[in-house]
Amino acid sequence: MRLAPTTILAATLALAAVHCGAPITNTPVNDIPKLTSLTIVMDNQATVADPQWKKIGATSYVDADWAAFTLVSERIQATSLKTKDFTKGPDFDALATKLNDKAKALGVAATAKDSAGASAALGDMKATCKECHSKFR
Ligand code: HEC
Repeated sequence: MRLAPTTILAATLALAAVHCGAPITNTPVNDIPKLTSLTIVMDNQATVADPQWKKIGATSYVDADWAAFTLVSERIQATSLKTKDFTKGPDFDALATKLNDKAKALGVAATAKDSAGASAALGDMKATCKECHSKFR
């Protein structure tokens, strides 16, 4: 049997992703409230958000970006809400709420095709990930 080049490429990319970051994790958004591990919640966040960080600071976006931002908004709203089930105190919860607010702002910007708003919301999200990791990870 020969493997199609696309199959080999997909397998290589999946391995590379596992190797240099969180495992690719795409829990259906309706099942995120049922997750029992903060690590898996975080893996879901990284899977959807990490590919978007390189778009921070761009002055215009294409339709594929707006679609990606809408998906990021929906998924990060679910994961950030879920994060509070693994609370480490009020400061932790406040950062999870901040991430939720910024994810909502990204969704609003995507609907309006507001490039400056989307870039700012993405930047704020990334900063919030980092802030919580430096305090609680
Ligand atoms: C409210 C605090 C908080 C926020 C906000 C937060 N994280 Fe985390 N993150 C944690 C903690 C705590 C851990 C360690 C969890 C563990 O594995 O027990 C962690 C771990 C991780 C991991 C490692 C998971 C693994 O497989 O070991 C990744 C990846 C990650 N976070 C990505 C993100 C991304 C991306 C964002 C922003 C979109 C984010 N996090 C926002 C608290 C946070």
